[in-house]
Amino acid sequence: MKIAVIGTGYVGLVSGAALADLGHSVTCIDIDSEKIARLHDGELPIFEPGLEELVRRNVHAQRLSFTTDYATSIPSADVDTRESPAIDIIERFLEKGASVSAYDPRAEVPTSLSSAIRRAEDAYTACQNADLCLIATDLEEFRMLDLSNIARALRNPILFDARNLFQPEQVQDSGLRYFSLGRSHE
Ligand SMILES: NC(=O)c1ccc[n+]([C@@H]2O[C@H](COP(=O)([O-])OP(=O)(O)OC[C@H]3O[C@@H](n4cnc5c(N)ncnc54)[C@H](O)[C@@H]3O)[C@@H](O)[C@H]2O)c1
Repeated sequence: MKIAVIGTGYVGLVSGAALADLGHSVTCIDIDSEKIARLHDGELPIFEPGLEELVRRNVHAQRLSFTTDYATSIPSADVDTRESPAIDIIERFLEKGASVSAYDPRAEVPTSLSSAIRRAEDAYTACQNADLCLIATDLEEFRMLDLSNIARALRNPILFDARNLFQPEQVQDSGLRYFSLGRSHE
């Protein structure tokens, strides 16, 4: 399996190296270009017993590589490792017979779902004529959404904010019925 791991810190580097050692083809992506350059030179940013040898072995076997380039790494990966409850939620919606239109600027859809859902080119297109909009990511750029445009795009102007990305008062003039987690605001 081709796997992309985002972040080469303690969690990402150890997981990436371990997955490569299991035989997967792993690309570790990091926004820190200096860290990636050091990894290319065989220098590890952290110490874990045995990790240096694990990394060296799998880089040598061409199962483990490091990059700052999302564009080429993510589309070719079978597993994007960013925690994504959205995938579980989409599967539940599909089981119930819903049509799902999804937008995420970073995550790739797992191969198993790619033919079952429609990928939209932006959040507004994803909401077009939908019965509700569900936000299941906390990417900063979603905070910048024009909520009035989201309300206009939807057939039913309902927003479920599963990451509590917005404050209820930000949403109140948008025309959306707003639901979030653990907060009462209707
Ligand atoms: N270390 C642990 O024991 C532990 C345990 C549970 C949860 N976590 C969580 O796991 C995550 C990673 O922890 P860590 O200890 O590996 O952190 P870390 O700081 O060692 O590494 C994070 C890496 O991610 C990179 N990064 C940040 N934003 C990025 C982006 N948008 N794209 C690509 N790379 C990006 C950073 O440059 C850094 O190299 C954190 O959210 C942490 O809270 C860590």
